[in-house]
Amino acid sequence: MINISILGYGTIGSGVFQVLKENCQIITERTGEETRVKSILDLREFPGDCAEELIVHDFKEIDNDDSIQIVVETMGGLHPAYEFVKASLEKGRSVCTSNKALVAAFGPELIKIAEEKKCNFLFEASVGGGIPIIRPLKSSLAPDEIEQISGILNGTTNYILTEMTEKGADFETVLKDAQAKGYAEKDPTADIEGHDACRKIAILASLAYGRQTGFEDIYTEGITKITDRDINYARKLGSKIKIFGSCKKQGDKVSAMVAPVLITPKHPLYSVDGVFNAILVKGNMAGDIMFYGQGAGKLATASAVVSDIMEAAKHRGINIKTIWDSQKLELVPFEESVSKFFVRLSGTKAENEAKARKAFGSITPVEAGYSDEYAFITEEITEGAYARAEKELGNVINKIRIGNQG
Ligand code: HSE
Repeated sequence: MINISILGYGTIGSGVFQVLKENCQIITERTGEETRVKSILDLREFPGDCAEELIVHDFKEIDNDDSIQIVVETMGGLHPAYEFVKASLEKGRSVCTSNKALVAAFGPELIKIAEEKKCNFLFEASVGGGIPIIRPLKSSLAPDEIEQISGILNGTTNYILTEMTEKGADFETVLKDAQAKGYAEKDPTADIEGHDACRKIAILASLAYGRQTGFEDIYTEGITKITDRDINYARKLGSKIKIFGSCKKQGDKVSAMVAPVLITPKHPLYSVDGVFNAILVKGNMAGDIMFYGQGAGKLATASAVVSDIMEAAKHRGINIKTIWDSQKLELVPFEESVSKFFVRLSGTKAENEAKARKAFGSITPVEAGYSDEYAFITEEITEGAYARAEKELGNVINKIRIGNQG
């Protein structure tokens, strides 16, 4: 019998309890041993809930229970999740978490403790919810040099952009609707400003390149500036606007970014719509591999956590090597990253055409029937060159990078 404690009985924690209960038989068969949730830490009471009797309010009760072998952290936030996870690993208990903020901030330290204590720190659910991506990256793709990762890593923003594209609605209206339907948080800042996707691509880059990728070092741009006019231009270009978290090997360094991009139907991520997530990984031997599924949601995310529980159960006393050093990954300076840009300027074509050519050199005009603005696509230029040209012009309404086509 494998005894488990769950820290946090919210959406994901209660989902883990449900998956373990409902799929008990196949989980036991595939693990080779029965699992039992022995205690659940939460400040709240849950009268009438099937887990009511298991609730404890003090972490010490779990910490001091020598029968606990695996700890599931589904509290979210950095503190006290970090302290509880660290204490559990130091006791040689494997920890399975869905907490991307914790993994992005403290991954290398917690992985090292797990290695020293011959247990495991596992975090399949921290990126892409129910999509298996962490384990494939760590093991199935281990022989490959990862050349590039591009991901639609946030369901809220993908839903908003999809609705804006399909219904022609503006950002604010779609956001309110998404909140009413429970797809977007009451405070949606982390999603719409790209911070959630930034932590996820930081985790993927750290695993792909074996070094700590500081999320604070990744250029991050959300979707709040995207308007219905941008969507119309995208349509004229036969493209869609998506927000990508991406990283790419460039010589000895890696470039990483979170930003909206324009992609054509040729791109493998073009058809990933609504709340779905997908991640495209390019290995130097395996080629393009795409992972698609539900990036959030109670049971999908809980299924990923339970897969970690089963992995931990099958590896008691054995650390599964995770290469993620605390030494920082050297990122290409943002100003040196290269893209083509779709740019909109306020004012007429006559007022802007010559100015735009002077600032950007060769450009390709884009028409969407707006006489009060002038839009075009640049050639490939660096972010630094783009920023200088934008400053020189002084009338940029918006710009969106053109995504490479897969
Ligand atoms: N808020 C996240 C999303 C949930 O919208 O994708 C999973 O991290």
